[in-house]
Amino acid sequence: MTPIILADAPQAANAVAERIIAVLRDKPEAVLGLATGATMEPVYAALVAAYLSGRVSFSRTTTFNLDEYVGIPPDHPGSYRATMNRLLFDHVDIELSRTHVPDGMAANPEEAAEAYELQIRQAGCIDLQLLGIGRNGHIGFNEPGSTLQSRTRHVVLHSETLAANQDFFEDAEVPRSAITMGIATILTARSILVLATGNAKQSAVRQALAGGYHSDCPASALAGHTDVTWILDDAAAQSARVV
Ligand code: F6R
Repeated sequence: MTPIILADAPQAANAVAERIIAVLRDKPEAVLGLATGATMEPVYAALVAAYLSGRVSFSRTTTFNLDEYVGIPPDHPGSYRATMNRLLFDHVDIELSRTHVPDGMAANPEEAAEAYELQIRQAGCIDLQLLGIGRNGHIGFNEPGSTLQSRTRHVVLHSETLAANQDFFEDAEVPRSAITMGIATILTARSILVLATGNAKQSAVRQALAGGYHSDCPASALAGHTDVTWILDDAAAQSARVV
């Protein structure tokens, strides 16, 4: 897997947005797998700009987000449902009923996770799965130790993930668990697009691209997929260059 390396984060995010736009122009009814996190914010800003200038429509698109926190309602500003509405869905012509985020308020998160997995299967294949990468190598909320066979499930978040996501919660506690698509679920996507920017991602990117699956770096599972594109900025790529 040879990553595409661009000079800075805005260029990398634009390149990702352009790929998503190309998929939707080619197949307006595409099923997209979406990610949240700070890395994705400029991607969604570029998609909104493209929609407003008439370059892309989401009117026939279906989306599945990778993950959602357990125990906060969808209108909590830190929830991934609220985040997606704020960054993308509220500003484009997507049918909200075709946007899916796991149910973080379900009385039984295990059952909600299974139901989400089934919904993804029933939608057919995810055409394009967008991924960020955690500093500890997680994809979705598949933390180190996750298995290649993992499916959508209820997971406990690692302390470094809680710390990395604290900014989104100001002084409140970051929820300790989440529902996430599993690694096997992610790998069923037809194609996968990973965006990593900034120095903090160097080591995770290097391990992910080193070859072979190491459960201490869940993103290394992507090496087992035949259609993965990594888009990095120069900062995230620094140590990937020496692999
Ligand atoms: C979020 C997600 C996570 C993030 C990762 C990077 O839906 O799936 O795997 O992509 O934690 O987050 P940022 O971009 O905030 O560094």
